[in-house]
Formats: sequence, C-alpha cells, structure tokens
Amino acid sequence: MTQGAPDVVLDRVAKVYGDGTVAVDDFSLTVGKGEFVAFLGPSGCGKTTTLKMIGGFEEPTRGDITIAGARVNGVPPERRSTGMVFQSYALFPHMNVAENVGYGLKLRGLDKAARAQKVDRILELMGLDDVATRKVDQLSGGQRQRVAVARSVVVEPDVLLLDEPLGALDANLRSRMQSELKRIQKQLGITFIFVTHAQSEAMAMADTIVVMSNGRIEQIGSPAEIFTRPATRFTAQFIGNNNLIDGTVSAGASPRLDGPLGSFPVKPGSPAGPASIVVRSDRMRFDHSTLGDGYDCAIEGTLIGEELVGSVITYAVQVAPDLIFHTEQHETMTGHVPTLNERVRLRWPSGDALVLAG
Ligand SMILES: Nc1ncnc2c1ncn2[C@@H]1O[C@H](COP(=O)(O)OP(=O)(O)O)[C@@H](O)[C@H]1O
Ligand SMILES: [Mg+2]
Repeated sequence: MTQGAPDVVLDRVAKVYGDGTVAVDDFSLTVGKGEFVAFLGPSGCGKTTTLKMIGGFEEPTRGDITIAGARVNGVPPERRSTGMVFQSYALFPHMNVAENVGYGLKLRGLDKAARAQKVDRILELMGLDDVATRKVDQLSGGQRQRVAVARSVVVEPDVLLLDEPLGALDANLRSRMQSELKRIQKQLGITFIFVTHAQSEAMAMADTIVVMSNGRIEQIGSPAEIFTRPATRFTAQFIGNNNLIDGTVSAGASPRLDGPLGSFPVKPGSPAGPASIVVRSDRMRFDHSTLGDGYDCAIEGTLIGEELVGSVITYAVQVAPDLIFHTEQHETMTGHVPTLNERVRLRWPSGDALVLAG
C-alpha cells in the first residue's frame, strides 16, 4: 500500500475537543513518500481534525504523529515540513498572481532572483504563466484555486495537506482540476493527503483511500479494493452503487441469509450469524430468460425511476417501503425494457455477492 519510505505515520491518534467531542479516535495510518492519500467520509467524521493534527494546527489528545522519521507532537506548523491548502483559502487581493505565489518564499528570506525562478516554474506547471501579473480578483474560480495550490507547493513541502480544495468549483472544472492536481503531485513527488466527502473525487485521484466514519477508520485500501471489496457495511453503503440486504446467515453446507426482505442463498463458507449481503448495482439484472442458472437470487419490486448517464441507465427499484435498490444496465440491454411503476424482478448470482458479518 505504501509506495516509498514512510513519510507520515499516525499511531493510535485521538482528538477530544475541550467540550468533550471525540472527533478522532484510535487512528493509525502510514503514508509513504510520494503517495496520494484521500480521507473520505461524511461531514463531521473527523477528516479536517486529522489533517490539522498532521499540520500542527491541532494537538492530538493521545497518540503520536511522525513526519519524515521525527515525532512532531508539539511542533508548531511553521516548523513542520507540511503545507496546507484550507477549505476556504484566502489569497492576498492587493497582490498579483506571481506575488501571491512568491509570498511564502519571501517570508523564508529568498532573494528576488531565486524567488522568480521558483515562482516561474510552478506557474508554468500549474498553467498559470499567462496570468502571472493579474490581480487575483481578475481570475476565474479554477485559476484562483490553482493559485492557492501553487502558493503551497512553491515552498516545496514534503507533505501537502488539502482540505476539500475543489469543493467550491462546478462539476466540469472540478474534474479537470482533479487530473491536474494528480499530474502535479506525481511530477513533484510531494506526498498529498487530500480530504473529501465525495467518493468519485477520492476514486479519481488517490493511490490509497482512508474511509472514515465517526472519527474512526472504516477501511484503508486502493480505490479498486474499496470499490470491489468494501470491508464494512458503512463503506459498502457510503461508496454507493451497492445494494444491501440485512439478515442472519444460517450454518451449513448451503447457507442462506434470512431477513425482512426474504431468504437468499449466499456463498458457501459465509460466516453464520448477523450479516449483510452486498450486491453491486452492475451485478443485478432484470429477470430475463437469457440469464444463466447462476442467477440464483431474486427480489421483486416496483420500478420508480431511471437515469441515463453516458450509455448506462441506472434504474431505481422500490423493494420495501423504506428501501430502494439500483441496477445499472447498458443502454443497449436486450429483452423487455420495463416502464415506470411496473412490477419487476431483480436477479443476481449469489457468487457475485459479498457477505459482511455484523
Ligand atoms: N474546535 C472544535 N471544538 C469542538 N468540536 C469540534 C471542533 N472542530 C470540530 N469539532 C467536531 O469534531 C467532529 C469532527 O469534525 P471535523 O474534523 O471538522 O469533521 P469533517 O472535516 O470530517 O467534517 C465534529 O463532530 C465537529 O463538530
Ligand atoms: Mg472538514
């Protein structure tokens, strides 16, 4: 998982704020040099707090943080080799782009020629060389965002901490900035720790995703691992595209899960006891004669919605009063195409379903 030597290590870190709020608990993580890690989780799960502790803006209540081999507990932000791009970054309005980007170098006492050289290089890398002499209020949202990143990158931190930096951008720009950030990160070899609540953003950029809920780590893995093998019910649900069925798995050679939605065969070897079946929406099919015998599970419901994105249609099927399943089908799906409010039957192979205990 880690790519290079450990760069940032959190060892059983916890943060309890003065009012008793446990924001982060028992958080252990090793980030390799040059790795792009995303903290992914819903609002309030402790992402910003963890990032601030790495940057030195909050002190851990318990546990140790090590950066480049040295314990940094108690070390102020300016004496750590970290940079931080905050959720709401403030650029200096009276300075132009190049001056904004060079400000940190000036603080560090670099002379004008040395500053210009570094600033020019970053501006070019970030595609900002054309606007170097513009005031920041003459920039688009995406350009401002890039200035904020350039300003943090130019001082060559070993680790850059980014707190939802793309949140304010519209969808098109956000996806462009995602690939640009990833390119710059790889080019400079800086370790990135990136906070987001959007799973698509984490999936698009990160080498490693840390899924968080309630101040704790739910799962650490590559985007592919998190997507195909969610380890917990929370991750399966948060990542989306998954249908969950709760119940109890019976013991025996042909185990089944029984619950409020019915009785379903599950993979042999599934642990007996309370569990959830997780079926990815692209693994569910509308019942059709061409489905093979492998499709040994079925559930009925009412088609209540459909959405076409690209060439994939996502159908929403109400399978219980408070439960909607999704099935993704290719636009060119053969056979009967159901219409809204029609009763439908969804089928899937038990071999394609994950069974998560708990
Ligand atoms: N300064 C603070 N004092 C008390 N509670 C805080 C403070 N900052 C954050 N919290 C609480 O800590 C929890 C985690 O917050 P935060 O780290 O900001 O989460 P996230 O970035 O994932 O949205 C939340 O319950 C939040 O309300
Ligand atoms: Mg936050």
